[in-house]
Amino acid sequence: MAQFKCSSCKTTAPLSTLSFKCSCGGLYELDFSTPKFSMNLIDTKEFNIFRYRAFMPLDNDLWKQITLGEGLTSIIHYSENLYVKLDYAMPTLSFKDRGAAVLVWLLKTIGVKKVVQDSSGNAGNSVAAYCARAGIECEIFVPKGTSPKKIKMIESHGATVTVFDGTRDETADACRKKAAEENIYYANHVYNPMFYQGTKTYIYEVYEQLGKIPDNLFIPVGNGTLLIGCRLALMELYEAGLIKKLPKIFIVQSEKCAPLFNATDTPLEIVPHNTYAEGIAVGKPMRGKEILNSTYAGVQEIILAPEEKILPARSELALGGFFVEHTTAATYAAYTDYISKHRLEGNSLIPLCGAGLKSEK
Ligand SMILES: Cc1ncc(COP(=O)(O)O)c(C=O)c1O
Ligand SMILES: [Zn+2]
Repeated sequence: MAQFKCSSCKTTAPLSTLSFKCSCGGLYELDFSTPKFSMNLIDTKEFNIFRYRAFMPLDNDLWKQITLGEGLTSIIHYSENLYVKLDYAMPTLSFKDRGAAVLVWLLKTIGVKKVVQDSSGNAGNSVAAYCARAGIECEIFVPKGTSPKKIKMIESHGATVTVFDGTRDETADACRKKAAEENIYYANHVYNPMFYQGTKTYIYEVYEQLGKIPDNLFIPVGNGTLLIGCRLALMELYEAGLIKKLPKIFIVQSEKCAPLFNATDTPLEIVPHNTYAEGIAVGKPMRGKEILNSTYAGVQEIILAPEEKILPARSELALGGFFVEHTTAATYAAYTDYISKHRLEGNSLIPLCGAGLKSEK
């Protein structure tokens, strides 16, 4: 049986716990031994991320009442050495649906009736939509300045939106305060390890679609929910002997908000500046230490998205047919900037994480 385990003091808690972290302050990780990855265990009759449920700690069929058909996004061979994966082609138009689907499966399983969550927009969109499908009441905190389109979308799923007059980090603090004071489940994509059981399907899909993992993976990182899921799945494929070499991971941060860049084992104390890449503008990544001190056995390097290259990158992608949001354009900007200055061996993969229609500017 899977359970939560404190990453600091190693105390365990059942998946039904209402605490979002250990009483010692440590964050939970998932104590679950994933079955050895094998293509034979994929349920190829399901066209959503639950086709990979053999590798998730799911012990009931409630996912059938939760799925919105997320995942199985296309991979396009974009240019000679570059693939892009269309994770904006999701039910709520971002990759966060992968994690939210599995998180809300847990909520439904343990009988949660009401949740709060904070978000720069996309995770809130996802949690609101999946909670709507599951019949769970939902309140989402977003920082002032969040795209009105994202707010409208959250509200359209029946969730309440609280716009907090503060930064992304202060908004998260306010949301946690409410969760603690009013004893409401904190359905958070960063704290709850179940979310990573969903984001890891990004890698399973790449492997199933290409029959390999590209040499270089570029991953946008604010709180690192896609990154952490990817690393889990890559280690699973590696340990199953299906990939012989782990890819190099390029962690993309905004040059206006880069607490991980040049950090050793703890994120740097930084003052976030305004950036078009709102989705990765996280000054205090809660799992920052985990990101920096990873047990990932491959190489990872932190690179920056130059602010002045974000809009041109967005136009270039749009002129190629891909209409993405600014945060996603930032990942592409970081890639093009990197290859203009360094020699990059092999082929690369970029996730197109969020849809352009959600951006205001
Ligand atoms: C489009 C997009 N890309 C990337 C990210 C970064 O995700 P994370 O904060 O989990 O690293 C986000 C987060 O909101 C996002 O919305
Ligand atoms: Zn602890």
